[in-house]
Amino acid sequence: MIFLTRHEHFNAAHKLYNPKWSEEKNSEVFGKCANANWHGHNYELIVTIKGEVNADTGFLMDAKLLSKILQEKVCDVIDHKNLNMDVGFMKDKLASTENLAIGIWNQITPHLPTNVKLHCVKLYETPSICVEYFGE
Ligand code: NI
Repeated sequence: MIFLTRHEHFNAAHKLYNPKWSEEKNSEVFGKCANANWHGHNYELIVTIKGEVNADTGFLMDAKLLSKILQEKVCDVIDHKNLNMDVGFMKDKLASTENLAIGIWNQITPHLPTNVKLHCVKLYETPSICVEYFGE
């Protein structure tokens, strides 16, 4: 088993807001991320795939193809967008880093070659906070 990791970057706006709660409760739970008029984050996305080395290429997967999938299915969909309003796969979800990582996982998996498995989606919302999703 070998692992291959690709690092991507995107910016996006969001707010964290639970419509079932009062303004006070949203502010208490989500702090600055509850700001009604949105704010942005510089996200760092680190995607790791796993599988066996192909004897003919010496690769797990062509890294350019992985990059193309991440660009087309994730970055082009999210970059410079509003996660709450513009991103179909985040519709009706709280725009948290956790839910975004799960959504990104689901965007990537259908497009990987059959001999490759997604291992981890790691997503930094700030340099000091990240989430990791392993598919369960
Ligand atoms: Ni935020």
